[in-house]
Amino acid sequence: MKTRPLGRSGLDVSAIGLGCMGLSHAYGPAADRTDAIALIRLAVERGVTLFDTAEVYGPFTNEELVGEALAPLREHVVVATKFGFRDADANAGLDSRPTRIRAVAEASLRRLRTDRIDLFYQHRVDPAVPIEDVAGTVGRLVEEGKVLHFGLSEAGSETIRRAHAVQPVAALQSEYSLWWREPEETVMPTLEELGIGFVPFSPLGRGFLTGAIDADTAFASGDFRNTLPRFSVEARRANQALVERIAAIAAGRGVTPAQIALAWLLARKSWIVPIPGTTKRHRLDENVAAAAIELSPADLDGIDAALAAVAVHGDRYPPDRQRQVGR
Ligand SMILES: NC(=O)c1ccc[n+]([C@@H]2O[C@H](COP(=O)([O-])OP(=O)(O)OC[C@H]3O[C@@H](n4cnc5c(N)ncnc54)[C@H](OP(=O)(O)O)[C@@H]3O)[C@@H](O)[C@H]2O)c1
Repeated sequence: MKTRPLGRSGLDVSAIGLGCMGLSHAYGPAADRTDAIALIRLAVERGVTLFDTAEVYGPFTNEELVGEALAPLREHVVVATKFGFRDADANAGLDSRPTRIRAVAEASLRRLRTDRIDLFYQHRVDPAVPIEDVAGTVGRLVEEGKVLHFGLSEAGSETIRRAHAVQPVAALQSEYSLWWREPEETVMPTLEELGIGFVPFSPLGRGFLTGAIDADTAFASGDFRNTLPRFSVEARRANQALVERIAAIAAGRGVTPAQIALAWLLARKSWIVPIPGTTKRHRLDENVAAAAIELSPADLDGIDAALAAVAVHGDRYPPDRQRQVGR
């Protein structure tokens, strides 16, 4: 697989990474542990070098899984994790106090079975803690060799600038995909100017953009998508029109809708590295293969036209989660 630089940070990673969250968290019951470890190791075999987790996924179990899977392969991979939710609970509010950041770093290092976190993201901007204090704390962890690079997630432009002035930010991880393009206006110009990489999360629209989900799909109880306005039955029914157009473009190219969604992100900027998640080996292969798909200007025009023709229904987050993004 080709590699890409995450901005001017010096961090080079596979053009497509693996989002590990769904192996233990958010999308129904956790995957079988042995299968999940095999999937992560298969990703390394396929050339994936960027693996994404967070203390809050599980909580803790996803880091433990990633740590176990990658321990024998540690020298070949980049491990990214995140701090910033109170008590490692995404429903308990935010906590980026310096003492908490240090405690998470130490605990994450243990769970990940490693002596360094390659990329340590603040999961959400905490309005109670100045971003300079957060950046300074991560900067000291960098000086100590416990963290190699600093990242932010769902931060706004002003916060990115202030953080970057204290401790260089290697990457921003925020939602970005065919059906969520707000970052193009809000943060991407800043990322380009400052030389910061962009790691789109939910690049497959949490599965919807692949065509594998429709209005009849029943999610398991506890599946996070049950809480998202964009995944209400009505929204899914309306948004099916977008998937149909993407599927038609994919068929014309002899690829899959998931591959169009990923190849489109890769075509936007050379410093973009999407991290699709999957629990299935055949889908891992499908997603990884998207790194080799070059979309032509005509393909990109066709995708733009399809996106312009369909209005996406449903907010991406419920109000409480929405308040935590873009700050
Ligand atoms: N920073 C943040 O706040 C934040 C938020 C959300 C996610 N993330 C990170 O981003 C990663 C990816 O995001 P995500 O998991 O939310 O969404 P995603 O990658 O857009 O979609 C994952 C979903 O798509 C399905 N899928 C994957 N490949 C497929 C394919 N080729 N065909 C059909 N279905 C496919 C998966 O189901 P199967 O498992 O059944 O294949 C899963 O349900 C996460 O793992 C996590 O590391 C970060």
